[in-house]
Amino acid sequence: MVDHEILLEVKKLHVGYGAIKAIKGIDLFVKKGEVVTILGANGAGKTTTLRTISGLLKSTEGSILFDKGEITNTAAHDIVSLGMSHSPEGRKVFGTLSVEENLLMGAYTLKSHDAETLAWIYKILPRLKEREKQLAGTLSGGEQQMLAIGRAIMSKPKLLILDEPSLGLAPVLVKGIFKAIKEISENGVTVLIVEQNAKAALKLADRGYVLELGKITHEGSSEELLNSKVIQEAYLGKKK
Ligand SMILES: Nc1ncnc2c1ncn2[C@@H]1O[C@H](COP(=O)(O)OP(=O)(O)OP(=O)(O)O)[C@@H](O)[C@H]1O
Ligand SMILES: [Mg+2]
Repeated sequence: MVDHEILLEVKKLHVGYGAIKAIKGIDLFVKKGEVVTILGANGAGKTTTLRTISGLLKSTEGSILFDKGEITNTAAHDIVSLGMSHSPEGRKVFGTLSVEENLLMGAYTLKSHDAETLAWIYKILPRLKEREKQLAGTLSGGEQQMLAIGRAIMSKPKLLILDEPSLGLAPVLVKGIFKAIKEISENGVTVLIVEQNAKAALKLADRGYVLELGKITHEGSSEELLNSKVIQEAYLGKKK
């Protein structure tokens, strides 16, 4: 259920890599219970935005508010403790650890590890349950991506940030990933997702932003964006 309360608010954010200005003054917000997507071409600044929100990169200007508190340039591990979890681009699982061990690593901010959360994740991502003792490095690409998502929700975050969860996956696995994200959202986790697969992302999301060369050029409800001619031509593969 979408609340009126704002969980994440980014204001006039600027981020650069040395002389390169990757993000040039963006504003965005995510309400509690929403799924919000950021669309954009390669190099638009999507990953930079997500990494700055979760404290992995420092901004040069602007502010970030999370759960009513200022988190601008707060250390990443402190932001995790506040209830934000980031599943990074690429499948970064610990290959020499089992599926179960990888999931337990995701719960490191919780005082005791939580059998109930583990059971919940296995229910949403049953493929992981079947393979709980298997080494993560031997999972297929899609299974590793599911594991990365599972690990990100082990800390029971208020906000789950996903950077291209369907990257490089076959269409049938993409469906499975999006279904899992929908279920996670229905379980009360707010989601901010970056996706190349714009159509699937907009079908899942409540609202979306389009990022072009470090600036937000369009924003609106998913329905508005799906029906927009400009978005259709640029991101949804429809011809003029
Ligand atoms: N570590 C870095 N050093 C210098 N420039 C960087 C660095 N990381 C990213 N950039 C530049 O910042 C810009 C935004 O990159 P970013 O990774 O945020 O894009 P993206 O939208 O996530 O792209 P993709 O869809 O390819 O993942 C790009 O021009 C990129 O070359
Ligand atoms: Mg990226």
